[in-house]
Parts: sequence; structure tokens; C-alpha cells
Amino acid sequence: MENDISLDLPSGSAPRATKARVDEARSAGDFAEAVLAGLTRTPRSIPCRFFYDARGSELFEEITKLEEYYPTRTETALLEAYGSEIAELAGPGRMIIEFGSGSSRKTSLLLSALGEVPAYIPIDIAAESLKEAAEWLSGQHDWLTIVPLIADFTTTRALPQVARGKRRLGFFSGSTIGNLTHDEARAFLVNAARLLGKGSTFLVGVDLKKPASMLLPAYNDAQGVTAAFNLNLLTRINRELEGTFDLTRFGHDAVWNAEAGRIEIYLVSLARQSVRVLGRAFSFATGERIHTENSHKYTVAEFQDLARAGGWHPVKAWTDPDNLFSLHLLRLD
Ligand code: AVJ
Repeated sequence: MENDISLDLPSGSAPRATKARVDEARSAGDFAEAVLAGLTRTPRSIPCRFFYDARGSELFEEITKLEEYYPTRTETALLEAYGSEIAELAGPGRMIIEFGSGSSRKTSLLLSALGEVPAYIPIDIAAESLKEAAEWLSGQHDWLTIVPLIADFTTTRALPQVARGKRRLGFFSGSTIGNLTHDEARAFLVNAARLLGKGSTFLVGVDLKKPASMLLPAYNDAQGVTAAFNLNLLTRINRELEGTFDLTRFGHDAVWNAEAGRIEIYLVSLARQSVRVLGRAFSFATGERIHTENSHKYTVAEFQDLARAGGWHPVKAWTDPDNLFSLHLLRLD
């Protein structure tokens, strides 16, 4: 895609600063457009990718350490337990293409399991977190060539030069695929297939369906960290988009939508009120909601069906003893 900017590390400060500014300006425009459109439509919704400003990323990091939030520690344990089997099934000499520069710790586990990796290409729109992750990982794996790609990984069409002619292993962890609807997830898998190419493999972390009694606390923890994470979106709107949200008059809610097989997260207006964003007024009734996230859950069989619909062949799936989380290895023939 012509908008993609590849950023080679280490690089001089001047070109990087310019690229970062371009990137920031683009995402600011994006944010304004998405928020105004999202507050105007019925029902109201704002895409979850806007959670991750600096504070939002910090709060998400805190979420991953909560007792109630089982996905991160469970997926990490799966990588620790099955890393060598995954490496064996993926085959030697593969470069890693990571969709969303997620948790560096998980990537590091995968890199260690794979041994010699010709290059590591993380794809993310957030230039700053890409840079941080790349710096930490190059400290952990000093032989590693890292070529970050600043791009929207759902629509990336081309990989950097360094990826030419190498066997590829895609990595999409954290059940981030759960943020997409089934149709979007299938389209993402189709695009990933085109990007990674024939003969590639793809490791995808997917949260499993389980009783609502366990899902709900994971998205509405006792300490209120998830609530703070959700409400931080309003703080970000206040700061970046001249917003007037009163943080004491909005609350957090998480519900299990059994029919759709997903957790839905909402910001809820606790009063009848009017709020301004970029000079435009929006009225809220008491109890009126803004939908801020979907987190789809799958059975192993459901995700394998989705993978097939996206053109991939399921090779093997690993789950923990409590059936909380799954890792899927897929292959493109
Ligand atoms: C990183 C998108 C997978 O859906 O579990 C955690 C985000 N939101 N708590 C998830 C999240 C609220 C998380 N993902």
C-alpha cells in the first residue's frame, strides 16, 4: 500500500522524527473523523483501536496482570510449553511477520523457540510502540534484524524488500482477532494469506468460549482497571478533540452477547447530559451507551472453520488444561 512507511532500525533521528510526525498527523485526523462519525450514528460506537494512546497502552498492560484477566498469562504459558513443537511444525529459517506489535515478551518467546530467524517484521500503526518493542527485542536477541512497518495490518498489501524470497511465519497474538467481526476476521485472514504467500504458516492466538461467569469479570475487574481503560477514551477525546466529557458522569459496562459469541464493552451515560466535541454538541439520555469494543470468543472448531473460510489449512491447535485460550498453527498451501 502506498501509505505504508517502512522504518529501518537503527536510524538517524531526523528522518524518524519526520515520519513520526506524519504518522501522528494522520492518526489525529483519523481519530477526529471516527469520533464524530461514531457519536453521530445510532447506536453510537467508537472503534477500539483508539484506546491505545500512551495512557491507554499503560492501562492495557495493567489489565494483562489482573487476576481476572486470564488471556495474557495463559497464552504466554502455551508459548512456553509448546514453543519447540510450534517451531518444529513451522519449519526452519522462517522470518516472522507480526500483526500488531503486541506483547514483546510473547514475541521473544517465539523468537527463542524458532532459533535462527532471518528477520522480524512487526506491523503496527503506532510508531512509538513499534519503536519501543523493537528496541527491547533487539536487546534480548542481539543477532536479530528488525524491520518495523508502520501500517494498518488489516489492509497491508506489501512487505519490505528484506522479506523477498524468505519463508514466512505470521504471528497474531493476544486474541486481537477477536476485535474483528466474523466477516472482518475472514477478510483479514484472506489479506494475510495474500501478504504472507504460499507455503507460509500463521500462528494465531484465540480466546475460547467459556461461561459468562468467568468472561464478565475479565472485562469488568474488581479494581476497576478495565473501567479506567475504557473511560480513558473520553479523556483522550477531551484532550485531543476539545471534548467536554465529565468523567464522573460516564460509567463502564461489559456484557456477554451469547448470540454473537462476544463480550461487548460500553461507555454508559449516567445522566441526561450534553457533551461537545470539536464544537459539535451531542445529547445523551440516562443509560445511553457508546459501544467501544467487541471481543469475540471461539471454540477450537469454530476458529478452524473461520481459518478455512479465509483460505488457511489448520495444522494444529494447542489449548491449556482449563480450556481458556488457544494457539492455532495454520498453513497456506
Ligand atoms: C487485546 C483486544 C484482545 O479483547 O481481551 C482487554 C482488549 N479490552 N480488556 C481483549 C481488552 C478490555 C483485549 N484484546
